[in-house]
Amino acid sequence: MIEFADVIVGMSYGDEGKGKVTNSLLKKNTNISPLLKNTDYTHCVRFNGGHNAGHTIYKDGKKLVTHVIPTGVVQGVKSIIGSGCVANLGLLAQEIASLRQLGIETKGKLFVDKRTNIITGQHLYEDSSDVKIGTTRKGNGPAYRDKYARKNMRFGDFSWDQEGYDVCDLYEELYDEGKNRVLMEGAQAFGLDIDWGDYPYVTSSHCGTASALLNGIPPNKLRNVYGVCKAYDTYVGNKKFEKEDPIFEKIREVGQEFGATTGRSRQIDFLDLDFLVKSARINGVTHLIVNKVDVLEEVNCWKVKFKNKLNDLKDKKEFTQFINHHMAHEVDSIKTIFLSESPEDI
Ligand code: IMP
Ligand code: MG
Repeated sequence: MIEFADVIVGMSYGDEGKGKVTNSLLKKNTNISPLLKNTDYTHCVRFNGGHNAGHTIYKDGKKLVTHVIPTGVVQGVKSIIGSGCVANLGLLAQEIASLRQLGIETKGKLFVDKRTNIITGQHLYEDSSDVKIGTTRKGNGPAYRDKYARKNMRFGDFSWDQEGYDVCDLYEELYDEGKNRVLMEGAQAFGLDIDWGDYPYVTSSHCGTASALLNGIPPNKLRNVYGVCKAYDTYVGNKKFEKEDPIFEKIREVGQEFGATTGRSRQIDFLDLDFLVKSARINGVTHLIVNKVDVLEEVNCWKVKFKNKLNDLKDKKEFTQFINHHMAHEVDSIKTIFLSESPEDI
């Protein structure tokens, strides 16, 4: 049975550092704060998206990037690619092989729900000519289109050599005799959600807390929602996001804001607290994690948009106070706010 489920959700447009947060929470005996104790998870489930995601994680000083494979695999926690995801057999095999090269064996740890939809070669081909949205060209849009047209293939439809993983039934996994403590790992983010993002400049899945629940989690078992954002916003794709300001080039360099999946430059803007409030409210965020405060420190620029005004704050202290005060005031579900300055931990 499920004892509880915690959810990790991106607050902005992806690349907020969800992989790092997941990895920190999965480390045994993590002691980031008294509130984050009891994070001894039995399962890590990716709940949306496919190979479009790129989660950067540091393990023993080594940099790892996962795409569709849940971060749990890196810490040896049983990991499931959930029913809300889409995956391509060849790309999955490649990702398994690249983890193996880094000494991480996935067999026995990695499972794919039988309901997970397949990204076919045709889907990849169609997406490869996208010029409108600026997709990651990993076949997501066409795969979800065919899923909803009820004509797609799913992992449970065939049997083949499942090198490095096994197909499972998410229900049987989560509702066995054990007391399961599940970490639901989101991909992309609320600003890219198919309905709540800036349509059509969005991804093809739902990216919020509700989407996590659709992977077999009952609402009454939801415990913590970790909302992840950065101290500034970034976006990758074809809409114009970045405004004229030389500070953004500096932030891009210092923050190394280049895509983990496609290598594209991420467009930069100051943190939009109005969007963050909306995102935190709708996703029921209990713990907000603001990453990359160290980047703003290095460029020494502490601007935040709030109530449609750009606030020029004096220093890190003022920035911290501003975020703590307004987020706690505007979003009643928030219990704790962490400002993080390390690429390896919260
Ligand atoms: P798609 O998800 O590949 O269809 O791309 C749709 C939009 O979402 C594009 O603007 C992508 O750059 C963006 N996107 C998709 N996945 C990610 C991600 O993991 N991080 C950041 N942007 C993403
Ligand atoms: Mg990413």
